[in-house]
Amino acid sequence: MCGIAGYIGEQNAKDIVINNLKKLEYRGYDSTGIAVLDQDISVIRAKGKLVELEKKLEDESAPGHVGIGHTRWATHGKPSDENAHPHRAEHVVVVHNGIIENYLEIKHNLINNGAQFSSETDTEIIPLLIEYNMQRNGLDFEQAVLSSIAQLKGSFAFAAMSTTEPEKILVAKNASPLIVGIGNNEMFLASDIPALLEYTQDVVILEDHQMAILEKDQLTLKDFNNTELDYQVKKITWSRIAAEKDGHKHFMYKEILEQPRAIADSMRSRISKQAAKVSLSELDGMDTDKFNKIVFCACGTSYHSGLLAKQWFERYLRIPCDVELASEFRYNDPIIDDKTLWVGISQSGETADTLAALHEAKDKAATCLAICNNMDSSIARAADYVLYTQAGPEIGVASTKAFSTQLSVLAMLCVHMLQAKSKDKVSELVHAILHLPEAVQQCIDLNLKLAPLAQKYMQYSSFLFLGRGDAYAIALEGALKLKEISYIHAEAYAAGEMKHGPIALIDQNMPVMAILGEGIHQEKTLSNIEEVKSRDAKVLIVCTEQQVQDLKLDQNYDCLLIPQCHNFIRPILENIPLQLFAYHVADQKGLDVDQPRNLAKAVTVE
Ligand code: G6P
Repeated sequence: MCGIAGYIGEQNAKDIVINNLKKLEYRGYDSTGIAVLDQDISVIRAKGKLVELEKKLEDESAPGHVGIGHTRWATHGKPSDENAHPHRAEHVVVVHNGIIENYLEIKHNLINNGAQFSSETDTEIIPLLIEYNMQRNGLDFEQAVLSSIAQLKGSFAFAAMSTTEPEKILVAKNASPLIVGIGNNEMFLASDIPALLEYTQDVVILEDHQMAILEKDQLTLKDFNNTELDYQVKKITWSRIAAEKDGHKHFMYKEILEQPRAIADSMRSRISKQAAKVSLSELDGMDTDKFNKIVFCACGTSYHSGLLAKQWFERYLRIPCDVELASEFRYNDPIIDDKTLWVGISQSGETADTLAALHEAKDKAATCLAICNNMDSSIARAADYVLYTQAGPEIGVASTKAFSTQLSVLAMLCVHMLQAKSKDKVSELVHAILHLPEAVQQCIDLNLKLAPLAQKYMQYSSFLFLGRGDAYAIALEGALKLKEISYIHAEAYAAGEMKHGPIALIDQNMPVMAILGEGIHQEKTLSNIEEVKSRDAKVLIVCTEQQVQDLKLDQNYDCLLIPQCHNFIRPILENIPLQLFAYHVADQKGLDVDQPRNLAKAVTVE
């Protein structure tokens, strides 16, 4: 995890680095720091969010045109000023994202050679090792960095500056992301593309095992064997505004409202009303007939997308599907082979477990398809095929529009594969998908005023979410959203399982959020609602107005309404009021909605 920023040019480095770190805070925010190189290096660090660092900087001029900065999500060593990056040796200073697995061994060697450590981090070995290689082995800065890299095991993206060569920033990447932005007589550095968009749209995305030398008017790219490499400057077309709040109080709220647009963008040129078909040209060359099994693999919210996809793909394609937690997958010796389609789902495209699972699937000869939101992210680049969601940058840590767009793309993938087998149902499902942007907008409009309901429920400390079939995945996602941002304990159960345990918890202090569903699921879930009602639980129901009328639902129930729709897309709609409910509860509680405690947007460590 963690975010890295850097600047070299003619402007004040401190201001630009701080500005870029603000956009990277979603990657971690338990401590921050900056180093600016002038005659010497000034290092300023602070425990807590970036505002704490900014307070410290009010008393520091920190002049200089070369600087690096860091926002941290602690792995080795608790959040503190001492453990915050940058870490410094005599001439060298470093910020790092990732984990150095063999740091203890290197640390002991360095200590035996007289090095002194002042933090508990794995990172501190990097500047001290570079320094050692410069002083003891007589290497220049660049050679010392290369020689140090050769000793590191694990994942890293780091940036280093040295007083011996003050006109350079050296960076290196292995498994953690790093992007260089090219300006006019200036260069920028960041862990993702949106952080650079205020300054430049021209970027170079570093690959694994690459090191770059940034000078204000020159970028040199090398591999870890010191061989110079050609590179491509990519033009990024995302607007900067898309990465900002648009006047809303929180990114999460803005991102919930953006869903109709994000879904429509994800559908564009992939689905045709006239031809009543889906065309995923990104999958050209994929022999979909050969698969006898599909494995969906992901973490967090993206895992819930996989759970729903399994329902769809098994129902319509009749192919056996597994859904795997990426963190478990590679340790379970998964049964997959060249007839398996492995689908990795990841908003960031940088989740370490999902990336590692992808490598495991590749090693076992599966065809690997990534569904990602971030262009050219590690998972997207490592996969055989990629379907991008077009959610645009998602800044709120709790995933909303990324989930809806993942589901839209998975729905299209399901129909794409179905077309190759049978024409049955295709036209009906295509029309259901085409209705999504409008239906999601209706859903948002129906639930815009959930704040009073949130106020009614915000004092409860536990919630139970129930759903059956497709709605079970949505119950899990609804519960996750509530716990992530409002810190209310929320558990989701397949409604039929309630009798096997959770019913013991039910009383007037445990509200139950039931997702009604339709058909056979509706009937059965209604019985579960009766069971919790007779045990005094407060009941909230996600359903249509028609269901409220037809089923004569008890007026004491609080209903979160969705519009009438085809059952294929219904779960995507059921999720919208749950997002808004969680948002309003957290907002009413006065919590930090966009940056909930202990979480990070992209978990780039195992
Ligand atoms: C973190 C985020 C979640 C996200 C999960 C998987 O836990 O806080 O919102 O669902 O990672 O991330 P990915 O980028 O792989 O979808």
